[in-house]
Amino acid sequence: MAEGTKKIKEKRIDLIGKSQHTKELKHFIKKAAKSDCNCLLIGETGVGKDIVAKSIHCLSKRRDKHFVKFNCANISEDLFESELFGHAKGAFTGATTNKTGLIEKADKGTFFFNEIADAYPYTQAKLLDIIEDKELRRLGENKSRKIDVRFICATNKNISKMMKKAEFREDLFFRINVLFFHIKPLRERKQDIPLLVKSYLEKKSLELSQNIIINKEAVSKLMNYSFPGNVRELENILERAFSLSNSGEITRDEIEFTISNIAYLKKESKSNITPEKAIQTIKKFNGNKTKAAKALCISRPTLYELEKKANKYK
Ligand SMILES: Nc1ncnc2c1ncn2[C@@H]1O[C@H](COP(=O)(O)OP(=O)(O)OP(=O)(O)O)[C@@H](O)[C@H]1O
Ligand SMILES: [Mg+2]
Repeated sequence: MAEGTKKIKEKRIDLIGKSQHTKELKHFIKKAAKSDCNCLLIGETGVGKDIVAKSIHCLSKRRDKHFVKFNCANISEDLFESELFGHAKGAFTGATTNKTGLIEKADKGTFFFNEIADAYPYTQAKLLDIIEDKELRRLGENKSRKIDVRFICATNKNISKMMKKAEFREDLFFRINVLFFHIKPLRERKQDIPLLVKSYLEKKSLELSQNIIINKEAVSKLMNYSFPGNVRELENILERAFSLSNSGEITRDEIEFTISNIAYLKKESKSNITPEKAIQTIKKFNGNKTKAAKALCISRPTLYELEKKANKYK
């Protein structure tokens, strides 16, 4: 779904960290901001893909125009198209007015396509046309409109593997992958942790007009953890630790790791899903595969795969 259509005023990079990798990432952002090429960001959940996309936009010549964020993962196929491409009045039942699509709203600005790997095949095809022709046609309209949009796409999926299985179009991949950066998980750049912690504590202290500190043992407990949810998880752990501490000092006792268990359970449930279970769940949601995939904690392509398998054995 669209999560934000906004103009971003700040001209800065909010990325915190001093590891070699984060330095390289900051360098990439500056390079990408100078060029006008489409970008692809790959990285696990919570590594900072959103911040990177926003930073590229707000340092680029497009900064005075809109930054539109769209999350592919939470939207059904029918809504997908009219949200993205817009429609003319009467284009389908329920289209009572003309509607500007989100891509059009990003004209002269930046369109951030989150979870691009989850885009439906038809959307992938249409997106390719838009990027190649720099033209967009709203649903139910004959005329095309010129548009000038820079696309930044992101995913945490293995897109190369998806191309091999024909789940993602190669031609689209080459169009969006002009500039590429793989953001490493936090466990592979642990030098960033102390600075991220410091920044969180400073923000919190300012917010509450209270000095909040963390002791060495607590930091070392964090340094020894694997952070499957990356920076987002670190922020949650600190938030919880702070709410557990009475004194304004976070010690190792307040540092609790719970999200890793959830990630582990999700992995488990994915490996246990049988093709039959996938079919049952699709039926349960009246054929809505987005909802079925979400309920099973798997991606839509994985669900399609299981469905294919089930049909083979029929
Ligand atoms: N290097 C960083 N410096 C400061 N904050 C960061 C950094 N990386 C991530 N964050 C923070 O972590 C949280 C998650 O970041 P973000 O939403 O950009 O991750 P993401 O890679 O887009 O995750 P998802 O794939 O789940 O959308 C945000 O609150 C963001 O501000
Ligand atoms: Mg994100």
